[in-house]
Amino acid sequence: MLKDKDILGLREMPAEEIDEILDVGMSMKKLLKQNIKKLPHLQGKSVTTLFYENSTRTRCSFELAAKYMGAHVVNISADSSSVKKGETLVDTGKTLDAMKNDIIVIRHPMGGAPALLAKTVKAHVVNAGDGMNEHPSQALLDMLTMRENFGSIEGLKVAILGDISHSRVAKSNLFGLKKLGAEVTMYAPRTLIPTGIERMGAKICRSREEAVEGADVVMGLRIQLERQHAGNFPSLGEYSKFYGVNEALMKYAKPNALVMHPGPVNRGVELTSGLIDGETSRIEEQVLSGIAVRMSMLFLLTKEEI
Ligand code: CP
Repeated sequence: MLKDKDILGLREMPAEEIDEILDVGMSMKKLLKQNIKKLPHLQGKSVTTLFYENSTRTRCSFELAAKYMGAHVVNISADSSSVKKGETLVDTGKTLDAMKNDIIVIRHPMGGAPALLAKTVKAHVVNAGDGMNEHPSQALLDMLTMRENFGSIEGLKVAILGDISHSRVAKSNLFGLKKLGAEVTMYAPRTLIPTGIERMGAKICRSREEAVEGADVVMGLRIQLERQHAGNFPSLGEYSKFYGVNEALMKYAKPNALVMHPGPVNRGVELTSGLIDGETSRIEEQVLSGIAVRMSMLFLLTKEEI
């Protein structure tokens, strides 16, 4: 059982709760692999996805997760809602509460927006990515994919390369992986490494080879051009050449180390096309893990109320 009303991030989530979400997520994934998509866990519940930023994977995945468990689902995107007429986040939340929504899944460009919403609504709030802060369901689906492949997270070495500064995925993964006993190495241009990340448990490496040496998992992160106000590296071509993940770099990792990426991928920039489509890639597997782990999150949030 989860102790909080909401799922806002992994920084504060106890390791036991992360484990519980992964345990239930593994069971959900087994059902999905058998093409079982009609479960009763959320019957009579309503789920609203409230997205102030673009998304393919996360929004669709939460919607399918809720529908597969029998919930009523409504999707709101800021572009086509009363937000455009000036309605505040808190007022939007109160409106959704008045409609008896049980769960609000929110993505917002401002870090902390889901926490503000959570304080002001009765509904459970799930953070689907807030600015550069956290993206807990992405990290949980990444960990589910790792656990499925290796049996356990403890003792794994996970190398994360890319735009760490702007990445909520990197932060949530760091919090979750460290809690479950993994080692996390990171590498990026200095301009894309946030101050203080080492205090959060990451090992910042001086070369990409050092970061990937002996890794079980190599995760590329998207270059988030939409959040960069100034050039943090000279060009995408140079980024790819000096900081990207390619076949030669993967030779430093363990044999058959997994290649992962949260998506969307800039093909040929963060990862080569050969790696994205190769045998050790788990990028499509991550997508299926996403539905499973989100089913687990929605179920565990409301379990006691059903
Ligand atoms: N990984 C991820 O959050 O993808 P979307 O932006 O497509 O949701």
